[in-house]
Amino acid sequence: MAVMEQIRKRYSVRKYEDRAVESEKLAAVLEAARLAPSARNVQEWRFVVVQDAAMRAELVEAANGQKFVGAAPVVIVCCAVDTNYVMRCGQCAHPIDLAIAIEHMALQAVEEGLGTCWIGSFFPDKIRALLNIPDDIMVVELLTLGYPADTAPDKKRVPLSDIVSHETWGF
Ligand SMILES: Cc1cc2nc3c(=O)[nH]c(=O)nc-3n(C[C@H](O)[C@H](O)[C@H](O)COP(=O)(O)O)c2cc1C
Repeated sequence: MAVMEQIRKRYSVRKYEDRAVESEKLAAVLEAARLAPSARNVQEWRFVVVQDAAMRAELVEAANGQKFVGAAPVVIVCCAVDTNYVMRCGQCAHPIDLAIAIEHMALQAVEEGLGTCWIGSFFPDKIRALLNIPDDIMVVELLTLGYPADTAPDKKRVPLSDIVSHETWGF
């Protein structure tokens, strides 16, 4: 599948089939994260894969009550072990590195016939306590993963002309 096809097909899946994700599909999704670029190639990402139903149910409260988080057969808790590197441009590297890896997973998931949803609405301390994640580890994002049980909505996006200018700042 062409990358643009995966990009167009990806959407935030908030309803999942009650069906396990095959281990080879999960492995392919995680491999897509492993191959992501990162600043200085630090590869500070760490991923805790949660499939246990009782644990997923507990994640709902930690995810600010978002029930579909518990209904997804897989929740990937995306963490950073090194949060100190600030690039010359002044930006922290770790949220950017994590975001790239997470979107790699989201696109590979489409390739596998799966769906995902980024979850930024969560309480990191609650996630840490549930999953035994040390205090010095940054829990950056969650990603739900599973077979979609809904249909893709139309993409609501601003036109390219609103977000791109050429040669000089044109906004
Ligand atoms: C960093 C980030 C955090 C997000 N957090 C949540 C979330 O906590 N819950 C949720 O339902 N969707 C969440 N989303 C999904 C966005 O709402 C969604 O990507 C956006 O509305 C565009 O829709 P689409 O993904 O279907 O194209 C998040 C997306 C991103 C990129």
